[in-house]
Amino acid sequence: MNWNKEMLKGFIEKAVADQEFIVVSCREPYLHQYSNEGITYINPASGMASAIMPIMTACGGTWIAYGAGEADRDVVDEHDRIAVPPDDPKYTLRRIWLSKEEEEGFYYGYANEGLWPLSHIVYSRPTFREGDWQMYRLVNEKFCRAVIEELGGRPGFVFIQDYHFALLPRLIKNERPDVVVAQFWHIPWPNREAFRVCPHGDEILDGLLGNDVLGFHLRYHCLNFLETVNQNIESIVNYERFSVTCHGRESLVRAFPISIDFDSLSAIAASPEIEARSAAIRGDFRVRGKSLGVGIDRVDYTKGIIERFTAIDRFLEKFPDFCEKFVFMQMGPISRINIPKYREYNDAVYHVMLEINEKWRVKDWRPIIMQKVHLSLEEVVAHYRAADLCIVSSIHDGMNLVAKEFVASRVDEDGVLLLSQFTGASRELPEALLINPLAVDQFAEQIHRALEMPVEERRGRMRRMRGKIERNNVFRWAGHILEEMKKQR
Ligand code: G6P
Repeated sequence: MNWNKEMLKGFIEKAVADQEFIVVSCREPYLHQYSNEGITYINPASGMASAIMPIMTACGGTWIAYGAGEADRDVVDEHDRIAVPPDDPKYTLRRIWLSKEEEEGFYYGYANEGLWPLSHIVYSRPTFREGDWQMYRLVNEKFCRAVIEELGGRPGFVFIQDYHFALLPRLIKNERPDVVVAQFWHIPWPNREAFRVCPHGDEILDGLLGNDVLGFHLRYHCLNFLETVNQNIESIVNYERFSVTCHGRESLVRAFPISIDFDSLSAIAASPEIEARSAAIRGDFRVRGKSLGVGIDRVDYTKGIIERFTAIDRFLEKFPDFCEKFVFMQMGPISRINIPKYREYNDAVYHVMLEINEKWRVKDWRPIIMQKVHLSLEEVVAHYRAADLCIVSSIHDGMNLVAKEFVASRVDEDGVLLLSQFTGASRELPEALLINPLAVDQFAEQIHRALEMPVEERRGRMRRMRGKIERNNVFRWAGHILEEMKKQR
């Protein structure tokens, strides 16, 4: 059965009829900001937010998230709510305000200096501070109060996103055991050896076991979770049902590989505006007449941006004929810049780019063009369409939606995807050219292979990938999670 927007809508109308449907995440779908045109908004760069947006737009409900935009407070009503999308409202965004200390301890500290590096095996040590943990607990409690308020005593389904809210499911269940609670962990779950350094491991596991359904991208992450629980918590772990029973309640643990709104992205990519914009990108004097590679990522040490640049350097060493004939555009916003590791990484990416460009430059040609800017969805799609190849070289990534967005954008059935074998997406897309971002020579060879690939092979691979993502779209992802939630009623 091929899920689409209408089917999901129909399903939700039946399954959630007369009940509240509430989504909780840290990152909000719209950030309001001040500009010369007055108050405007952007969609932040977040795989999580871009996956949840089409679902909420199709199905309605309330999305509770941290109001992080500088102008966010100016546009909400007296209950901190705003109807969104701002131009064509379909659901409610309820904003939660965090103090500076809360943002520091909860978001930058515990979530992104603790749980993020704990879950991604990229050899970056997590930091756990007691003060951050206290803020993490406090903010989870704050969101719990908002969820209870939005439920208003009515029955409902609460769907929580990500590692910012490991304690929230248990807190909600303590107050409202009748409500169905599910959570999706958008990043990898580490193996139990890696997890054991977390000083608050037991509380985190207990919090997550408040969920009726707990989702990960891969079965491998589910197994890691079950083993972590088995090692740490008094409970019954059932490897046949993929569930954990704790305090007399069962939590199902399931793999739901996340995806994208394939049809909408393809429609955007096929529009005359995007074709024109894509032609303009190819016509830029730095790109004109050359093969073009693109990479679009938040500047994050898990994304393997330095490894990508190093592989481009190696590629030019191995295949000097491509000097002045190949250019790589790296785009995407800086991220979590208050965290020292992110600042250092941001500087390092810039310096490696400068060094490589200095080594190879000829007249107006540089092998790497880098723009650290936030791009609209249309700009992203236009760059995907303009490119001959796209590189996703994460050192560890739960899924990676850039890979899927690139495929959906290629309505012309052309273009080559180079994809790290350490992304969840590589399990679904073996037709991509798989790479180990740390194996620089092999990586360089794959860039060469992509550029030399015959058109028939390119099309064959792209067609197969498009077929898969069209079927395994984000509505199917949400439909499967909601089906499991409904069974818990
Ligand atoms: C990952 C996480 C998301 C997060 C996104 C961007 O995709 O799974 O929850 O929103 O990174 O990070 P940020 O910290 O900017 O929200």
